[in-house]
Amino acid sequence: MTFNIIVGAQWGDEGKGRVVDLLASEADYVARYSGGDNAGHTVTVGEQTFKLHLIPSGVIHPHTIGVLGNGMVINPAVLLAEMEQIRGAGVNINPQRMRISYAAHVITPGHIALDKAREMARGAGKIGTTQRGIGPAYNDKAARSGIRMESVLSPETFADEIMAHIEKINQQLTSLYGAPPLDAQSVAQEYVGYARILAPYVGDITTLLSTALKNGKYVLAEGAQGTLLDLDHGTYPFVTSSTPTAPGALVGLGLGVGRTNRVVGVTKAFQTRVGEGPFPTEVFGEAATRLRGTGTNPWDEFGTTTGRPRRVGWLDAVLLRYAVQINGLTELTLTKLDILTGLNTLRICTGYKTDGKTLENLPLGPKDLTPFEPVYEELPGWEKDVWEVRKWADLPAQAQAYIQRIETLVDVPVSLVSVGPERDQIIRR
Ligand code: GDP
Ligand code: IMO
Ligand code: MG
Repeated sequence: MTFNIIVGAQWGDEGKGRVVDLLASEADYVARYSGGDNAGHTVTVGEQTFKLHLIPSGVIHPHTIGVLGNGMVINPAVLLAEMEQIRGAGVNINPQRMRISYAAHVITPGHIALDKAREMARGAGKIGTTQRGIGPAYNDKAARSGIRMESVLSPETFADEIMAHIEKINQQLTSLYGAPPLDAQSVAQEYVGYARILAPYVGDITTLLSTALKNGKYVLAEGAQGTLLDLDHGTYPFVTSSTPTAPGALVGLGLGVGRTNRVVGVTKAFQTRVGEGPFPTEVFGEAATRLRGTGTNPWDEFGTTTGRPRRVGWLDAVLLRYAVQINGLTELTLTKLDILTGLNTLRICTGYKTDGKTLENLPLGPKDLTPFEPVYEELPGWEKDVWEVRKWADLPAQAQAYIQRIETLVDVPVSLVSVGPERDQIIRR
């Protein structure tokens, strides 16, 4: 029995898809446990690049079974389009290979319209959501008025449910936000069509995964978003509406506490964020372009889901330490080390200065980080290209020292180092 969790240790886009694809070569089940199509996970295999929003990244390996957990919110139109897209790339998706929890929630055009209307109404205080209807769908879940995937098993009543739901949302759209109403009947019709196709995929994933674990199988939980976007533990209110942290895997898949073997945090060798909210180590101008890239490489820092340029900065060890604590990380995977090649001096934020004092940990969590000035430690960079390096011993001494310093600062080992987006561009310690 093996149950490992992959979790984003920063603000998302750490390279989780790439790491899941790597570890999935040995897994039997790969299970997404939170979020929806706000996620964008990139997997590069030879000439092919997959950008996955809902389907677990591990399904690219033909021997795995993909699972969409009860912690997720699912837009059926996006899911079906993604299924077609990856089928076109030669990946076999059928109800034996992909299972969807009956208790996952359904995202509708009503949720998307509300997400957009609420963002507009927030004005300068906007969150910078992906506008995929994520917040409103989790809102309905918490309000106990959501529609669950189990409804697709009864298309007749599903149509009525969708109609009633859209009509209710229309009241909010028109009266609160002055937005145009949606055509409830046509949405219901569209959704009944999706229901007929998706019904064979829907079932009890909790029993499926528990039985698999009992039978000695390997379940890999694929996190979406990142620790600092967690509803409870992130930079509230600039967060998503779910629990992307490691405990979310237990709730979002229905697996009991005490089964987890490894909790692998994925972090970039620097820091990025897309959307609004605090970012103490953010850099601007030329320094930012150097870390972000200009969009000429597929791995440059532009959102996989929205195409927005990502904000970039130096690695923040205060926040990474926090991620180790919140998730109970047993190890880290460091991605995008290659991007730092050629920089003369590297900086790591080791503490926050406030009122003349230096803090190594956050006094009140990561809610308001604006009063803090990052305290930086400088380390020498390296010139040697690391793109082709596959062994620790072949890394430049400065790169080894940079990684070892991170290990010391956050007190967990870095077990994998990624030096490029391809499957084989990895250094195992
Ligand atoms: P995720 O949301 O955590 O799965 O990450 P994204 O896919 O949104 O963004 C990560 C980007 O970095 C993708 O374009 C990956 O192909 C790319 N990537 C991952 N690891 C590496 C690496 O070590 N080096 C480089 N250059 N790119 C990487
Ligand atoms: P992956 O899985 C990066 C961010 C949005 C916004 C905030 C709330 O690819 O790492 P939402 O649409 O969820 O209500 O937006 O969360 N966000 C992400 N940022 N990577 C993601 O997913 C994200 N999912 C949501 O940009 O700031
Ligand atoms: Mg992403």
